[in-house]
Amino acid sequence: MSYKAHLFICTNSPDRIGKCGSKNSEQLRQELKDRCKKEIGGDQIRINSAGCLGQCERGIAAVLYPSGQWFLDKTSTDGDEIFQVLKTSLKTDSD
Ligand code: FES
Repeated sequence: MSYKAHLFICTNSPDRIGKCGSKNSEQLRQELKDRCKKEIGGDQIRINSAGCLGQCERGIAAVLYPSGQWFLDKTSTDGDEIFQVLKTSLKTDSD
């Protein structure tokens, strides 16, 4: 199976204050994964867990490929905002 896009969400170091994992990024990833599967289709986009993306001070950090778009300064409640961007991005790609 070949996905159209991959979103890599940093879930690094849940036990270290200031790191993305300590800001509930795994919860955000799971929420996005479930929603994408339900509303976009599980074969369109893969929501991956990533190690440190080198943007700790601006975490929760995530990056979308192949577009290379970054999501920075996100919180675990920004799932809807990110989902809307993903949905638009996939729509644009298939036009
Ligand atoms: S811990 Fe998330 S970018 Fe470094």
